[in-house]
Amino acid sequence: MLSRLLLFPNNISRIPSRPAIRFLRNMSVKTIAVLNENELQDGQMKEVAFESGKVLLSRLGDKVHATSAFCTHYGAPLAKGVLTADGRVVCPWHGACFNVCNGDIEDAPAPNALHSFKAHVADGKIHVTADPSSTTKDNMSRQPRLLASGAEVGGPGVVIVGGGSAAFHAVESLREHGYKGPITILSSEKYSPIDRTKLSKALITDASKLEWRSPADLKIKYGTTLRIGVAVTSVDTTAKTVTLEDGKDHITYDKLILATGGLPRRLPIDGADLENVYTLRTVGDAKLIDAACQEGKKLVVIGSSFISMEIVAAVSKRKLASIHVIGMEEYPFEAVLGKEVGAGLKKYHESQGVVFHPSTSVKALVPSSSTPTHVGSVVLASGETLEADAVIMGVGVRPATDYLRASGWQLEKDGSVKVDEYLRVIGKQDVYAVGDIATYPQLTTGEYRRVEHWNVAGNHGRAVGKTIAGDPQPFVKVPIFWSAQGQQLRYCGVGYGWDDIIIKGSPTEMKFVAYYVKGGKVVAVASMQNDPVVMKASELLRLELMPSPEELKAGKTFFCLNANSRAFGILARAAITKSTSTTSFQSRAVLKPNALSKNRPPQHITDRYRSARRPHPHAYPTPAMTSPRQLLAV
Ligand SMILES: Cc1cc2nc3c(=O)[nH]c(=O)nc-3n(C[C@H](O)[C@H](O)[C@H](O)COP(=O)(O)OP(=O)(O)OC[C@H]3O[C@@H](n4cnc5c(N)ncnc54)[C@H](O)[C@@H]3O)c2cc1C
Ligand code: FES
Repeated sequence: MLSRLLLFPNNISRIPSRPAIRFLRNMSVKTIAVLNENELQDGQMKEVAFESGKVLLSRLGDKVHATSAFCTHYGAPLAKGVLTADGRVVCPWHGACFNVCNGDIEDAPAPNALHSFKAHVADGKIHVTADPSSTTKDNMSRQPRLLASGAEVGGPGVVIVGGGSAAFHAVESLREHGYKGPITILSSEKYSPIDRTKLSKALITDASKLEWRSPADLKIKYGTTLRIGVAVTSVDTTAKTVTLEDGKDHITYDKLILATGGLPRRLPIDGADLENVYTLRTVGDAKLIDAACQEGKKLVVIGSSFISMEIVAAVSKRKLASIHVIGMEEYPFEAVLGKEVGAGLKKYHESQGVVFHPSTSVKALVPSSSTPTHVGSVVLASGETLEADAVIMGVGVRPATDYLRASGWQLEKDGSVKVDEYLRVIGKQDVYAVGDIATYPQLTTGEYRRVEHWNVAGNHGRAVGKTIAGDPQPFVKVPIFWSAQGQQLRYCGVGYGWDDIIIKGSPTEMKFVAYYVKGGKVVAVASMQNDPVVMKASELLRLELMPSPEELKAGKTFFCLNANSRAFGILARAAITKSTSTTSFQSRAVLKPNALSKNRPPQHITDRYRSARRPHPHAYPTPAMTSPRQLLAV
């Protein structure tokens, strides 16, 4: 009777009341001893069983935290990632980051937060209190705590132009950090923000399988007006309006976020506009490529970098008659990854039946004699002709900023928008530019660069969301990207213009770590089958604690440590606090005795980091050792 009253208090509604939901949840909560306390050292993470589920334990000082064990992006086991001294767990696969104290999202590409469970130590054992159903892999995530719904305040609010990675993460961050005004997304795509990275890896043709949030969720839970299938054609920063479809509508803004991403390039050659010549950016493009790349068809791919080679990897399992790849360089990926890694990946693709035409270019695409609207063959600069039922151009993207040029904006040479460290468009009031269109100052070098990575766009969106919500955020992330090339390739840093590469392992066996060196410093790291090396490297690059090229060549490595090793946590903490007294034997084993003090991050890094990591508004009290004050007491 009591439970019935609690469940349906007015006896009319069949929707359980909030107290009822809490009551039912508490009924199923259990406290279980999951591990001996001495089996979890300071700076260590461990995945432990919780009935039929799993829980991740993390230890920071004498405080133990318990969260979901799997990443909310694609489900990686977080225990294999990196625990940082300031209480973040970095996923081993693609760089998502969570706060171990409360499970909140810290970095993209995490679309959801982790569950956080109570943990306490008694009688030498670690006890976790949780509802077992929220420890299973299918229920590993929770929606982020949204501090505002959007209904609280009127006015024009935030307008986001574009509906991609940056837009999605900006909306989430705005609401997570308490932005109360209206949010409007204007997107030329016909669906809510999708996981674009899956398009080339799996040629998924159903947008609803790729959307991070349904349009209904964006409207109801996030208080967002989503206008799809509309193109912004100009921006007036004096009147604070954007114009849609050449004047059909005008939208006013308080703050404007420009997040229009990239437009695939087409080579300016004869036949480039023939009907079966494809590029890939949207679900519509994926549908066309999927339909064209069926058994028995002859495919020619122009360009041998990431997106084109991911499509090749996806369709090489489809029994096509032939797949020819034309590249200007000797090896695929050469400009980014270098010859040796390129040769290793080439060997893999060749083993899947792909034929490469290196160091050449395309002269013309010739119409088919039977269907002149379609391409029939591809003529190379060498004079060779390849028959083709379909051609894919993977020759890069340019920033989608034609509407800004039409508005009279001065853009960078490549068509991008220059922003400051807060991602504010230089010379414009209340306007931010994020993601693929933004040329922004890099964390450690201050060099202005544009970076086309999913995480960068997402983390830009998150930073701007927090800034607009009232907590100004300089952008302090190291770029991370990944690619599927038979094995998973991970990469962090900005390796553009490297002058040396140090390779450990074997690119031909697709098991290696490559360090890219520029001006005597490691600036980027790539790996295959060596997780979580790249995620550790991203932390070391962020803190400017990367070993020197000479040290790496001499065999020194930080990566002999296990992901969950105590030493890594201590290393990072010791590196950013004054005292080295807690340095363990293990960490001394991989560092010179004076290395910790010598390798402390420089002041400009700690200053920027300090302003970027104030305590989260709804964090549980963070353990003393990870409070920003102590962390940054250098
Ligand atoms: C097939 C593919 C696979 C990829 N795989 C990876 C990967 O594995 N890892 C990785 O790190 N990166 C990957 N990338 C790159 C990554 O997807 C981009 O860096 C990221 O999507 C950039 O996000 P964004 O928000 O800046 O732009 P986008 O995600 O491109 O979103 C831009 C949005 O703006 C809209 N838009 C453009 N112009 C207008 C306008 N005038 N008016 C209104 N709306 C407009 C577009 O329709 C789109 O909705 C991949 C890219 C592609 C195309
Ligand atoms: S699975 Fe964790 S970031 Fe992708």
